[in-house]
Amino acid sequence: MNNAIEIKKLCKKYKDFSLNNISLNLPMGYIMGFVGQNGAGKTTTIRLILNMIRRDGGEIKIFGLDNVQDEQKIKQDIGVVFDDVYFVDSWKVWEVEKAIKGFYSNWSSKLFNRYTSDFNLPMDKKIRELSRGMKMKLMLAVAMSHEAKLLILDEPTSGLDPVARDELLEILAKYISDGQKSILFSTHITSDLEKIADYITIIDHGNIFYSGTKDDLLDSFCIIKGDMKDLSDSLKEKIIGLTTNIVGFAGLIPSSEIKYLPPQIITDTPSIDEILVFISKGERYNE
Ligand SMILES: Nc1ncnc2c1ncn2[C@@H]1O[C@H](COP(=O)(O)OP(=O)(O)O)[C@@H](O)[C@H]1O
Ligand SMILES: [Mg+2]
Repeated sequence: MNNAIEIKKLCKKYKDFSLNNISLNLPMGYIMGFVGQNGAGKTTTIRLILNMIRRDGGEIKIFGLDNVQDEQKIKQDIGVVFDDVYFVDSWKVWEVEKAIKGFYSNWSSKLFNRYTSDFNLPMDKKIRELSRGMKMKLMLAVAMSHEAKLLILDEPTSGLDPVARDELLEILAKYISDGQKSILFSTHITSDLEKIADYITIIDHGNIFYSGTKDDLLDSFCIIKGDMKDLSDSLKEKIIGLTTNIVGFAGLIPSSEIKYLPPQIITDTPSIDEILVFISKGERYNE
């Protein structure tokens, strides 16, 4: 068993949206950033992984086990953080532990106390009195207090200020440092990923645009810029998210195409953000 998550050809149809043949592998011991615009299908994919909604096709394995058949067993080893707090507003921090620990056979009050103290969470405050950053840390403390082997975090950094975001990223990096734990982390803030993700999956309108290592992603695509007169029809077809203006054109191409470019076209290494922006301007799928 080398993969914490293995998804093959996952499909889900809603009236106005469909997830199409989603496939991805998250190897044990790594962090995968799951990125895409709002409405791309990140939360839907996460809900399917957690068997909160029914899939229409495909296969999901967690730690090598089927996510539906072996749900109860798998859930013991998963910690989840959603972008909305799911605890009762009037609970105090210590009451959250009381309510949740019974669900997990390896719950450790010692760990919970350590995380809440590390995160400076006041035990006697009510959930509704906590700031957004504190609520996030509380959800994380809960998710990590049963030694979950897999953390699934849906937009954990949205709404956090840069300092709190940085703290969260440090906590996550530390969490996987024993090599036995993995994290799937959805976000639309790509600077988070530049820092800690080993793997990146980009989802666009329900389709996987890329899934693999971050380094391969940045090697696989290239930004090109040039004069309109150098933009041939055959080149146009290969460009993802072509933009043109008076001074020229810009776009993204697979790096394998660089060797066919006329020498006057400028090439540049993209950031994850730039890749996302070009994808949003015009997608192109291989399948
Ligand atoms: N229960 C549902 N019924 C119909 N459409 C839904 C349902 N849940 C989500 N959707 C649609 O699926 C699309 C993807 O949503 P979501 O997975 O939440 O995107 P993301 O998390 O990437 O922002 C959206 O267009 C959303 O409106
Ligand atoms: Mg979402």
